[in-house]
Amino acid sequence: MKVTTMTKIYLVGAGPGDPDLLTVKALRLIQTAETLVYDRLVSREILDLVPDGVSRIYVGKAPGRHTLSQKEISALLVSLAEKGQRVVRLKGGDPFIFGRGGEEALMLARHNIPFEVVPGITAAQACAAYAGIPLTHRGMAQGVRFITGHRKENATLAIDAATLADPEQTLVIYMGLANLPLIVRDLLDAGRAADTPAAIVEHGTTARQRSIVTTVAQLQKAVEQNNIESPAMLIIGAVVALSQELDWFMPVAQEMELRYG
Ligand SMILES: C[S@@+](CC[C@H](N)C(=O)[O-])C[C@H]1O[C@@H](n2cnc3c(N)ncnc32)[C@H](O)[C@@H]1O
Repeated sequence: MKVTTMTKIYLVGAGPGDPDLLTVKALRLIQTAETLVYDRLVSREILDLVPDGVSRIYVGKAPGRHTLSQKEISALLVSLAEKGQRVVRLKGGDPFIFGRGGEEALMLARHNIPFEVVPGITAAQACAAYAGIPLTHRGMAQGVRFITGHRKENATLAIDAATLADPEQTLVIYMGLANLPLIVRDLLDAGRAADTPAAIVEHGTTARQRSIVTTVAQLQKAVEQNNIESPAMLIIGAVVALSQELDWFMPVAQEMELRYG
């Protein structure tokens, strides 16, 4: 396929929700786009920054209920590029972290469509920071691993047991709610201590953020008791205990509530 008009597609990370976490480049691009193609995880506060004249295409991606399939989204980007549109493809968090941005970029590359990738703050980093949890901390966590909890029915987490069990490794699990009982089983089977501190951060970095601190063994119960809904991030490891002293977000959430309603 041949692109006749000079065009460019920008694969842009919107960050986790708080509009103040957009990069300067992301903000400039969404304010000068002709067409914005966006997902469910792009917050309302961020969409409010998009000028009225920009045409908006919502492509969904609620868990299990994609409005367009990934293939259709990639095809849409190619067809907008072929029309010469200046398109911003806005994705929650970072486009290349569990965001399928790589697939969209490959499709563009294979059609010789120029593109740029603008990184965003990924939800793991942001949820941890806004819940007062340093992902690494001297003497407590030497490393951090970002994991997806999404998997085929009954499959185990595709991570070696040594990593899952390592008490000095923080684990941050995206899309973990649907398979939580299996995730907890895998962690315990691998040898992670049942009383390892664990946090659930729901609607991270927004005025609606809730952060619940429990243990690995009690995770499922905490999710049920608190009616936790998507999007939510699981953070596992000794560093979670630091949130007792470092939780700074509550007053800021109240300010956000006043600012954004
Ligand atoms: C398909 S992944 C997209 C990740 C995104 N590309 C990123 O870099 O953050 C969606 C998952 O990210 C997590 N997530 C995204 N935004 C979140 C938020 N504001 N609060 C909590 N978890 C979030 C949830 O686990 C959600 O199911």
